[in-house]
Amino acid sequence: MKRRKFLKTSIGVTASVGLGLLAGSLSSASKTLPSKHLIMPPLLDTLGTGRINLNAQFGKTRFLGTGVSLTKGFNQGYLGPTIRMRNGILEENVSNSLAEDITVHYHGLLVPGRSDGGPQSVVTPGSIRKSELNIDQEPSTLWYHSHIHRCTGNQVYFGLAGAIQVTDGLDEQRGLPSQYGIDDLTMIIQDRRFDNLGRIVYSPKMSDVDNGFHGERIIVNGQFDTVAVVPKGIVRLRLINASNARIYTLGFNDGRPLHLIGTDGGLLDKPIFLKYLRLIPGERAEVLVDFSTGSLSTLISKRGNLMQIQKFAVDDSIPVKIKKVPDFFNSQPFPLPATITKTRRFSLTMGGGSAGQPSADDKVVAKESGYICGGRSAGDMATDFGINGRSFDMDRVDFEVALGSVERWIITGAGAVYHPFHVHGVHFRVLSEGGGLGRRQENVGWKDTVLASGETEILIHFTKPAGYESPFMYHCHILEHEDAGMMGQFVVI
Ligand code: C2O
Ligand code: CU
Ligand code: CU
Repeated sequence: MKRRKFLKTSIGVTASVGLGLLAGSLSSASKTLPSKHLIMPPLLDTLGTGRINLNAQFGKTRFLGTGVSLTKGFNQGYLGPTIRMRNGILEENVSNSLAEDITVHYHGLLVPGRSDGGPQSVVTPGSIRKSELNIDQEPSTLWYHSHIHRCTGNQVYFGLAGAIQVTDGLDEQRGLPSQYGIDDLTMIIQDRRFDNLGRIVYSPKMSDVDNGFHGERIIVNGQFDTVAVVPKGIVRLRLINASNARIYTLGFNDGRPLHLIGTDGGLLDKPIFLKYLRLIPGERAEVLVDFSTGSLSTLISKRGNLMQIQKFAVDDSIPVKIKKVPDFFNSQPFPLPATITKTRRFSLTMGGGSAGQPSADDKVVAKESGYICGGRSAGDMATDFGINGRSFDMDRVDFEVALGSVERWIITGAGAVYHPFHVHGVHFRVLSEGGGLGRRQENVGWKDTVLASGETEILIHFTKPAGYESPFMYHCHILEHEDAGMMGQFVVI
C-alpha cells in the first residue's frame, strides 16, 4: 500500500514532496542517519496513460552551499521525470518554455529516425511537438536528453536529461526488485564544477574541449552528498552515466560485489559478478547489490582520484522483498543474423579536419550567465573535431545503410583521450575493445555505447528506418567532442 501511495503521489510533483514521503517511511532507527536522503526523480508512468508529456523549463536549484544555480529541466527545475513505458504506442507531447531550441532524444530507444529526437527534431521556444512513439524492445534502462548541435554539452549539463525504464511487467517473476525508489533505484550520475557559492559552472576552455569537461564533485539525481536508504536485502541499481565526459570505475568501499544484470539494451541471461564496473558517458548498467550484511556502505569511483558517488544506509524496517540474486532471468536475447553485409571504418579525429569558424548565429542569446546555450559552448571554441576527417554537418548525410542488414564497424580513437562511441536507433554487439581479444564483462549483452580506445569492433543490426529528413547520429558521447563536430549521420532505407 505504501508503495502505491508513493508512486501515485510522486507523479509530476516536485522532488521535495518525494523526500517527505521517503523520510516518512523510515523507522525510528533512522534518527541516527544523516537527514538528507537520496530521492528518486518523480515517476512519469505511461502504463496507464499511454502518454508522455514533457515541458522544458527554467529552474533555480540549490545543490550545495548557499548559491542558487540557474538550471533547466523537464517538468521541474533540474533533470526530468523517470519515464516508465512498455511496448506499444505512446503519444508524445514535448513543449518548450525555454528561450532556446531543444530536442528530446531517446538514447537507446529503438524507434525510427523521425521519433528519435536527434538534432533535426527541434522544438522551438513556445512551440509543442506532438508525435507518436512505437515502443518495441526488451526491458531496459535508457535515458533521454536534449540534442541540439553545439548545445548538447550545455543543455545536458544544466539539466535537460532524465531516465527511462522499459518494462514488460515480468520482473517479479524473474525475482528482480521492481519497487521504484524502494528496492529499485534510479541513479543518474553526473560530475559538476561549482563556484565558491556552490553554483554549477559550465565554461569550457580549450583544454576542457580536448579532454571533455570534468567536474570535481558528484551529484546523483541532481543531489549532492546524500544517503540512499535501502532495505536489508537485494537492491537493484539502474546506473546512468549522464556526465558530459567522465568515465567511472564503480565499486563499494567495503568490497561488496556488484552483480551485473543488464547493459544498455536490456537484461543479460544471467548475472555477472563484478568487483568494479566501468561506466562510460551515455552508458547504463543495471546491478544487484546485497545489503543483507552491514549497515553503511559507499559506492565510489576509483578511476583517477577516488570519488564518492553515493552513500547507502540500511533501514531494517523496510520490508525485504528479494532475498537472493536470481541465477538467470529468462530474458530473450534476440539473435543477430549471421550475414555481415559491410565493414566500415571510423577514425575519430581531434582537429585538423574541415575546420571552420563558428558562424555568427551560433553565438546567440545572453552571454553573461553561461547557462543559456550560445553563451559559451564547445562549438564556439572548436569546430574541427570530426570523424574520418569530416566535422559534423547537419546538411550532409554521411552514408546509407540497408534496413535489416548487419554491419561490422571498426572505430579507432584519437589522441590520448578515450572516446565513448554511440549510435542512434540500434543495438550492437561488441566484438573487441581497444584491439584486445578479451571482451570486457561490461561489453556483454546488447549495447548502444562503447569505448573506442585504440581499435574497437562492433556488429550492428539495423532494424529501424531513418530517412533523409531525420537521419540517425553516430558520435562521441563526450559532449564537448560532439558539440565540436565529432559526429556524423546516416540513413537506414
Ligand atoms: Cu545520448 Cu546522440 O546521444
Ligand atoms: Cu542516442
Ligand atoms: Cu571523443
